[in-house]
Amino acid sequence: MIQLYWKNATEKVIDARHGITAAELDALDAAIRQAHQRVLQQCREGTLGYATLPENTEYRSQVKALAEKHRPRTTDLVVLGIGGSALGNVALHSALKPSTYNLLSDRRRGGPRLFVLDNVDPALVADTLNFVRRRIKTTLFNVISKSGETAETAAQFMLVREMLRRRLGEDFPRHIVATTDSQDGMLCRIALSDGYDMLGVPDDVGGRFSVLTPVGLFSAAMCGIDVDALLAGAGAMKQRVESPTWRENPATVLAAIKYLMFAAKGKPMHVMMPYSNRLYPLADWYRQLWAESLGKKTDRGGKEVFTGPTPIKALGATDQHSQVQLYREGPNDKLTVFLEVRKHPLEVRVPDVFGDVPGLSYLRKARLSRLLNAEKAATEYALAVSQRPTVTIHFNSITPQSVGEFIYLYEFTTSLMGELLDINAYDQPAVELGKKATFALMGRDGYTQMAKEIRPITRVDKRYLV
Ligand code: PA5
Repeated sequence: MIQLYWKNATEKVIDARHGITAAELDALDAAIRQAHQRVLQQCREGTLGYATLPENTEYRSQVKALAEKHRPRTTDLVVLGIGGSALGNVALHSALKPSTYNLLSDRRRGGPRLFVLDNVDPALVADTLNFVRRRIKTTLFNVISKSGETAETAAQFMLVREMLRRRLGEDFPRHIVATTDSQDGMLCRIALSDGYDMLGVPDDVGGRFSVLTPVGLFSAAMCGIDVDALLAGAGAMKQRVESPTWRENPATVLAAIKYLMFAAKGKPMHVMMPYSNRLYPLADWYRQLWAESLGKKTDRGGKEVFTGPTPIKALGATDQHSQVQLYREGPNDKLTVFLEVRKHPLEVRVPDVFGDVPGLSYLRKARLSRLLNAEKAATEYALAVSQRPTVTIHFNSITPQSVGEFIYLYEFTTSLMGELLDINAYDQPAVELGKKATFALMGRDGYTQMAKEIRPITRVDKRYLV
């Protein structure tokens, strides 16, 4: 069970200017209860798509059946997707598989190598395709796009489809699994006409909330991650966050702290700092969830609010040597959430050497997990004495269960934040504009007018070039 520790965000540890006071929590009582009730109501009414996923057996059966079919004949799995169609895949894989996974032998990996192409950087795409080209007969491509229209994914898909068609002829559709809107969309239509295996993305689950749909589950299952345990973890957290006693509920407490820090304590910067390399990509996943859900121009009544905390990622202990100087002595505008692991997946001990060297002897026989967690405690202390608030999310260990718990905790907390900020946490109008502008700049039919509007801004004015 993951747990939240929040004393170091309160006036009990840091001064009342920066730490949350009992009076502030009391003043938020009615609002947080209402927000909780509203989100639970949406869950009950079935309008909060992601909340139905822990119990959904249909998707997991489809994913498992398709993974069983493809696993034995696949040495390399390449995911084509971006944003919500890629970040969760990377986060799950990184958390639950060794960092050297792709370098291991077939037997030790127990599943295909995994590559997630979440950009159209030509060097990244070429490097990856050059690598898998040599084993194309045992490579599977999972193209993921809910809308089926995203330019980056579409370009990659066109490249890959053509490469497969040229090399494998009629057999090429066996090498593509399309994960997309099951009803409509360009990718859906092509997949049906080419005859790929397909997985659906539920209509009512937005990209950034879709990691527990086939979007994230298929690559996880292919690589041998226990998707039942992942969903069981999400289900266990779902029960915990339903607790009406809000001060004992990790999601309401987390939302209350984050909201108060943002709205009352001058802390618009919300850092996530895992003390675990395996959990670091979860911070990328969180950045998207937080930024796209909460960064909004208008509230639900249409009033301009330009709101939203800025999510930031940092890695402990690495970024102690890069960011903590700023976090301690720069503007006191941050809330840091540490992720701490009690029992790391592997242990390493420093050898019993240099006992006679005063500057090194304290490290003799030390477990690296102890050193890492001591560094976390040291940073927590250093921030506290500088009146900087922190919260810690404790993972007893990194398992599919605890990762599932974390995912659901953050998704539900995001919904609560949406209520507290009175914004729509489920749309992303600003992202859509960028997507359309890309269509216009790439000359897509129907976007000529937009291309004209864009040009004065993007055309280089030499007077300003130095
Ligand atoms: O959260 C979102 O909606 C976005 O980040 C999308 O996931 C991203 O733009 C990719 O969209 P799609 O899956 O439609 O290709």
